This record gives sequence, C-alpha cells and structure tokens, in this order.
Amino acid sequence: MEFLDLPQLLSAAGTVRLPGSKSISNRVLLLAALAEGETEVRDLLASDDTERMLEALQTLGIGVVHLGGENWRISGCGGRIPVRRAELFLGNAGTAFRPLTAALALAGGDYVLKGVARMHERPIGDLVDGLRQLGADIAYLGNEGYPPLHLKPGNIRPGGVLRVRGDVSSQFLTGLLMALPLTGEAATVEVVGELISKPYIEITLATMARFGVVVQREGWQRFTVPAGSRYLSPGTVYVEGDASSASYFLALGAIGGGPVRVEGVGRDSIQGDVKFAEALARMGARIETGPNWMAASAPADGLLAVDLDCNHIPDAAMTLATAALFAKGTTTLRNIASWRVKETDRIAAMATELRKLGAEVEEGTDFIRVTPAALRPAAIDTYDDHRIAMCFSLAAFGTPLRINDPQCVAKTFPDYFDRFAAVTRAAPVIAIDGPSASGKGTVAARVAAALGYAYLDSGALYRLTALAAQRAGVDWADEKGVAAIAAGLDVSFSESDMCLEGVPVGDTIRSEEISAGASQVAALPAVRTALLFRQRAFNTAPGLVGDGRDMGSVVFPRAKLKVFLTATAEARAERRYKQLIEKGFSANLPALLLDLQQRDARDSGRGVAPLRQEADARLLDTTSLTIEEAVDRVLQWSRE
Ligand code: DC
Repeated sequence: MEFLDLPQLLSAAGTVRLPGSKSISNRVLLLAALAEGETEVRDLLASDDTERMLEALQTLGIGVVHLGGENWRISGCGGRIPVRRAELFLGNAGTAFRPLTAALALAGGDYVLKGVARMHERPIGDLVDGLRQLGADIAYLGNEGYPPLHLKPGNIRPGGVLRVRGDVSSQFLTGLLMALPLTGEAATVEVVGELISKPYIEITLATMARFGVVVQREGWQRFTVPAGSRYLSPGTVYVEGDASSASYFLALGAIGGGPVRVEGVGRDSIQGDVKFAEALARMGARIETGPNWMAASAPADGLLAVDLDCNHIPDAAMTLATAALFAKGTTTLRNIASWRVKETDRIAAMATELRKLGAEVEEGTDFIRVTPAALRPAAIDTYDDHRIAMCFSLAAFGTPLRINDPQCVAKTFPDYFDRFAAVTRAAPVIAIDGPSASGKGTVAARVAAALGYAYLDSGALYRLTALAAQRAGVDWADEKGVAAIAAGLDVSFSESDMCLEGVPVGDTIRSEEISAGASQVAALPAVRTALLFRQRAFNTAPGLVGDGRDMGSVVFPRAKLKVFLTATAEARAERRYKQLIEKGFSANLPALLLDLQQRDARDSGRGVAPLRQEADARLLDTTSLTIEEAVDRVLQWSRE
C-alpha cells in the first residue's frame, strides 16, 4: 500500500488558492447539461468526482469540451437527453449518483447506474421512493434501497405533491429539486423528518436560480418548483473555491500560528461550510474574512474545546474532530448522524484513528467526543475517504504520522499534500551518513545535544533487530522472519541506554558478532521497509539529527542538511581498536581492518539503500579532524 509519512510540524502560515467546490461543480455540470444553450464553466474542480460526472454526461451524449485549465464548455440538451440507453459508472461520487438518478428517471430512458462497492452500501431508497411517487420505474439490481439501479421509461405524472425523507441525506432532496423542472409542471416537495445538511440545499437553490429556476420555499418543509420552469444557460459560470477544503487550511492557521489565508471563498459564499470559520472562532481562533477570502491565526493561549451542533457543517466538522486534539478540554460534535452514510462510516473511522494517536474518544449514533492527550506516532488508515486523509494531516502538529493511501484525496483535492507542505514548516532534519566507525555516531549525538534536537542512531535499530532475531532463533538470512521481528521490535530509548523488551542492552549490540549480523539483516529489503516508519517517527519538534547509511537518501530525503562523514579505513580501524580495548574487549587490528573493509563493501554494494554520498550531501573527512572540529563544522553548516 502507498503511504505518506509526515514529520511533526512546527508552524503554518501562507496563502492557498482553493480548488473549486465539489458540490457546486457537479451541480453546475448537471444543470448546464440539462439547460438550453451553451455554458462556459470556469474554475471547475478537477477531481475524481467531477470526472465521473463529466464522463457520465459524455456517455449521455451531452457536448463536453475541455477549454484548457479548469474551464469547460457544456452544450445543454434543453431537457432532452440525447442517448436514451446507457450504463453509467459513477465511482463513489454521491454528488453525481443522486442527482443523475433523479434527472434520468424523469427524463425517460433506459439506464443502469453503478458505482464502487462503497457506493452500493450508501442508501438511496428515499430518493427512489420520491421518484416512484411521480411514476418513475426504478429497479434495484442489488440490495433493496441501494445502488446499483436500473431506470426504465416510466409513466411520469407531472405535478402534484411528493414527499421525501430529509433526515438521511440532503442529496435526495437536491436530486429531486434539480430534476423536477424536467416535468414542466408545478410540483411541490414536502420534507418528512428533520432536514439535515440544510446548507447544501441552499447551494442547490442558488445554483438552480443561476440557471433560471426559482424555487418557492416555505421554511425547510415545502419546496415548490413553479409550472413552466426550465433551465437556461446563464452563459458563463464561475465555480467558487471549496469551502470544505478551506477548513483544513484554516485549522492549520488556528493550530500552527498562522495567518493562513484561503482564497476562493469568503463572506459572500453560497456554501454552508464557510460557517466552519465561526466554529473555529468559537475554539478561540482569530478569523478574518473578506468577500472571497478568509484567514485564520492561532489564539495567544491555545485553542479551547467546544460543544457544538454540527448539522450545518457536516463535512467541515470532521476537521474540528482533529483540531480538537490541540484544544484544552473535551470537544463534543453533535448531530452528525450523516457521517455514518458517507464515503465510509466516518464516526467509526474517526474514533478508531484518533484512538491510534492516543486521544480518548467516545462515539454515539450521532456524536463524537474527543479528549486530547500527548500524541504518539501511528499509521492512519483512510478508508478511501478523502476527508479522513486531509483532516488527519493536522495531527502532525502533535506527532510524526503515516497516512495510508494518501491518493484518496484525489476525490476532491488531488494536490492537497503539496499545498499542505507549502504552508507548513516541518521539524528539520540533519542527516549524517557514513561508513562504520567513521565517528558519525559521536558527532551526530553531540550536534543533537548542542541544538536541543532528538537523536536517531539508526544503526542501533539494525543491531537490535539482529540481536532480537538471534534471541528468537530466527536466521539472519531469513528475510520474512527477520522483517517480522523488525516490525514488532519492542525498543525504547533513554538518555543512557536502549532497552529491548524493557531490558537495557548495553554494549551487547556493539559486539563484532552483532555488528556482522546487523550488516547482514540491513541488506534485506523487507527489514528496511519494516524499520522505515519507526525511524521517521523520530522526526519530532524542534528537530532531529539522524545517523546511518541512508538517512539522506531514503529515510529523510528532504533533510535540510545532509553530511557524508567518512575517514580512511585505516583510521577507522584504529579508532575501533582503541574503543574495544577501552571497553575491555579483546581486539586484533589487522582483523578489524579486514572486517571493516568487508562491511563497507557489503553496505555500499547492496541493492537496497546502499551507502553512498548523495549529490546534495556535504563531504566531511574526519581522518585528520578531532571530534570537536567535526562537530563544529556540522553546526556551522546547519546555521548556513
Ligand atoms: O552504524 P552502525 O555501525 O551501528 O550500523 C550497523 C549496521 O547497520 C551496519 O552494517 C550498516 C547498517 N545500517 C544501515 O544499513 N542503514 C542505516 N541507516 C544504519 C545502519
């Protein structure tokens, strides 16, 4: 599985131009397709969900032309879909599936609508029931109440009153409202139950109005599409920036200092998720807004916990759940039952992943409660849910972490992690690589102490792995066996020693036998993979000095300083000899030299992460330098 490892973050500041809103993009595309005339759609979101909609429209015979960049021309069909028989694959795009179901059911043709497995677990029965009241002929091809669907030409009875449930997904009401003008007669929709996610209905009504259909409404209960309503192209439509996507960057500013400014949405937005900024302000963040921008900064004395009804910001509220990790006290997010039927069961997913980081979490059918704690590194699963991936990136302010399957952000924000990196500052790394006994361990530890940074002796992890394998009776050549040992290695580091399963190892891992074993297991690719995240988890605030063979090339390729520290084999053998004698081991200089030369050859000749000087590493030859001189040189480079 692909993953992305995030170092601990120190701060956030900067400006982000947001990608287009998913909700607005897919509504505009559908209405442009149903309208009379050509529509030029500008700043459309480029993402999986909009691609599914564009593909579907093309399959249905709608003229779709890419004008370059984020701009498209859609030739509307005036309510008469050209292709009357088609099979559409809509991925996991709810904003394409629901409205297309409604429009195609009323347009009268023979259509099969399918999606990914998760789409087939997301309910659609209430929308189908609503459409059947108008005479639509819809069959379930799998489970009753869920996609895939088979739509056949029905006897559509225009007009009248139909009823639809509003308490599962507002997309049912959105789908019906957007499709009703196709019948040409007046029709009224009555909402049964409490309407959730009301702001999305505002987006629907505003977008329909842009295309010439003004819905009359009585509160959130009754919506009437007047007789003779039909969609007319407004010519050019600009898609607003995505307010849900804005939430991550505003939260970054609120946690990481700021200001972080987002452009593309602001005070004048039609998206309900701009209210996220108010929720963040309730947590103490300093918020500024303009007509089409917003900015957030951290409060002087930290964020505060909140107890909030989140019905009005269901998607952006997920961002509050991870921001809560940095607030004083327990945060409760209420009225979020809709999370359970989204890309994944978001309440369950959030609770599971927040707990992995060490937070205390309580979940109910429609709420989640988060109490922060000191965070610990963890690999976060993302459930093919873009928002889980994006909101957990905030946790990097508390700990280095791994995001599994990070490409799932492509659903709404393909370059999210690049933008994230552009406005955040990570704890810096000084990578010191070099051959055995070059003195890099001593130099690295002293540089770390001088800067107040953490220190990673990565060679020790390979040595501990070799020792643990030996103790478990696993052969050093057994790649799978040793990798399993490495993955489960129970090590802890204290000021003075390292412990394996709670017991200090002392010099045991420095013996010639374990040195040879370490070199052997370090050549096994699966072992290196198993130890990768464990090493990156040392990349904490305020910074890290790591020493080894592949610190600059593999483990920390973005290190702010890379040093290749070496000395002649003879000088190194002599240093090792002195060290061993001082520690009371017996030693033989010629044998040590031969052994070092063999180990150098193995470390540099292996296929995976071989020892070599990286193009961007600075060479430090210590043959004729004292330790102090070498340390000073590295410190001087680090200040440059
Ligand atoms: O640095 P050291 O001598 O303690 O390393 C022990 C062994 O582990 C050595 O043979 C090289 C290997 N190693 C590695 O392959 N990659 C690292 N980053 C660190 C050490």
